[in-house]
Amino acid sequence: MVQGFKYHGTNKVFYSKYENGSWQEGILSNSISIELSVLSSAIQYGQSIFEGLKAYRSKDNRILLFRPDANYERFMTSSERLLIPRMTKSYFLDAILKVVDANRDLVPSYESKGALYIRPFIIGTESVLGVRSSETFLFGIVATPVGSYFKDGFQPIRLTTTSYDRAAPNGLGHVKVGANYAASLYPKKLATKDGFDDCLYLDPKTHSKIDETGATNIIGIKGNEMITPQSNSILPSITNQSLQILAKDYLNLKVKKRSIKINELELFDELGACGTAAVITPIKEVYHDGHTYQFDSYVILHKLYNLLQSIQYGDIKEPYGWVYSL
Ligand SMILES: Cc1ncc(COP(=O)(O)O)c(C=O)c1O
Repeated sequence: MVQGFKYHGTNKVFYSKYENGSWQEGILSNSISIELSVLSSAIQYGQSIFEGLKAYRSKDNRILLFRPDANYERFMTSSERLLIPRMTKSYFLDAILKVVDANRDLVPSYESKGALYIRPFIIGTESVLGVRSSETFLFGIVATPVGSYFKDGFQPIRLTTTSYDRAAPNGLGHVKVGANYAASLYPKKLATKDGFDDCLYLDPKTHSKIDETGATNIIGIKGNEMITPQSNSILPSITNQSLQILAKDYLNLKVKKRSIKINELELFDELGACGTAAVITPIKEVYHDGHTYQFDSYVILHKLYNLLQSIQYGDIKEPYGWVYSL
């Protein structure tokens, strides 16, 4: 059984190039290594975007993809921000289907509750010296089986706020670019050294409101409300958007997207981190400025978790057209 969120090998990788003004036909390759100029815009100036989605194995052995069209939309928002040329939705989805099909046997069993993690990316490949956009790009998709993101699955985690920012107020926080994750490495290292699982980033302008962690959005439950932060430096999580719909339609919760002051955490009943990799991971502690906010109930979060996973693994049918069956 695969465990943890790490690279566990792959069968085939998809690659295609952008050359002479258009995306070329792609290939499936056996290798995750490529030849790339050390002066490429991706290496020198971080012209690199990516996505993350999962394929799940259902009880009746179908392979299910969760909302790949939403990943396409976000991928295109990221590409526009980094001057990377668009591709059509069908080009993107065809490539995803090719990779999943070529890696079908790597999709973990239904019983294991693992998934095949799919990582589309685009990097600028042209050698540049002055700061400018590349005119050639590589689109790739790697798929590998994974277990849970935080080391113990639905086990509660501990977060700490940090004086560092992962994104600037009008910078790149709302898109999925490599640079955001480079910025999060050092603060995460400091947080884990102090025994926390990750940082909870505050809004970079005032440092008084909650943004998100390095790889997840935040959701809170207060009475019959599900509340999630509104900020332009947060990545719009597809998991979070899906949970907002499920919370309203299945659990009758009022869903609010608004700024959340850090000291408001005192009033929350439950707090969770959500994302494709983390699903919903409950948060038991948030340390901030000498004070620890504590949470010990995860009743609603657990219901949401079960609901989302039942849809993703095909146990219940959803009315939204989110699940693609292969
Ligand atoms: C910074 C950040 N926030 C939130 C998320 C969750 O987004 P999603 O639910 O689309 O995976 C991710 C993961 O992609 C992330 O890297």
